Amino acid sequence: MSNFEYIETRVEGNIGFIELNRPKVLNALNRGMISEILAAMDNFDRNDDVRAMILSGKGRCFAAGADIDEMAEAGSVDIELMNQFTDWDRIAWIKKPIIGAIHGFALGGAFELALCCDLLIASEDVEFGFPEVLLGVMPGAGGTVRLTKLAGKTKAMEWLFTGRRISASEALHFGIINKAVSKELLLEEAVRFANSIAVQPPLSIRFIKESVLKAIDASIYEGMQFERKNFSMLFSSQDQKEGMKAFIEKRKANFTGK
Ligand code: CAA
Repeated sequence: MSNFEYIETRVEGNIGFIELNRPKVLNALNRGMISEILAAMDNFDRNDDVRAMILSGKGRCFAAGADIDEMAEAGSVDIELMNQFTDWDRIAWIKKPIIGAIHGFALGGAFELALCCDLLIASEDVEFGFPEVLLGVMPGAGGTVRLTKLAGKTKAMEWLFTGRRISASEALHFGIINKAVSKELLLEEAVRFANSIAVQPPLSIRFIKESVLKAIDASIYEGMQFERKNFSMLFSSQDQKEGMKAFIEKRKANFTGK
């Protein structure tokens, strides 16, 4: 695919892979890397062959957070003018499912990036955390919001106030990850999850993702109205006709994404 400086991408079968690739600095997320991740996801969103994406890190860990060297000397005006959060917002609204395969560390911005994924498979040795407080700052790419929505106020406050790391078993307990596996099986398990999504009708997956993301943000009433519109919309798809016809004819459906 395209030439990227900070990430590697490939398509295998119906899965688009994105690997963070700055292992010497533990895949520290500089602005260039975030832009490249967005560009790669955007490409996969437009590629009909891709039905799910897997995001992972090369080397010792997923990533040790935002690049501290890049922001150490910045002032608030610099941070504002960098306008980096526009890319983060767009990553959060990618249409196709994203599976994070997370090993080693996912700290700070890297934890925030993991929380933008739809499913998370982690290695048993994983350590999530928000160490921003130890640097005299706080999360700025959705960390206080997404962690609180997932794990609730009490645990979010504890982790954010102290910078304490979260183990795989704690992350599992608080619904932050879907599954923990050994490091050796991490990618295999992520691929298994991705393939189980890739065989489903893509438009259903697209609208389910959109509806769940909406539900996080909306009142029950608004969420239900949104869900209903998406439900109705699927009755204009060929895959709805095919799926229901195949059920009646007692055969396997052949979904085309149309
Ligand atoms: N930014 C820039 N460089 C980083 C980095 C980061 N976030 N994390 C690690 N590195 C670099 C180190 O400087 C080191 O480089 P050199 O070899 O050139 O010295 C290299 O990666 C390896 O790191 P360590 O030697 O520190 O490895 P370790 O095994 O001893 O420790 C670690 C690992 C505990 C993860 C430690 O590297 C660490 O604490 N990293 C910083 C974690 C952090 O604070 N992340 C939050 C960043 S702020 C943020 O993300 C805010 C936001 O939302 C915008």
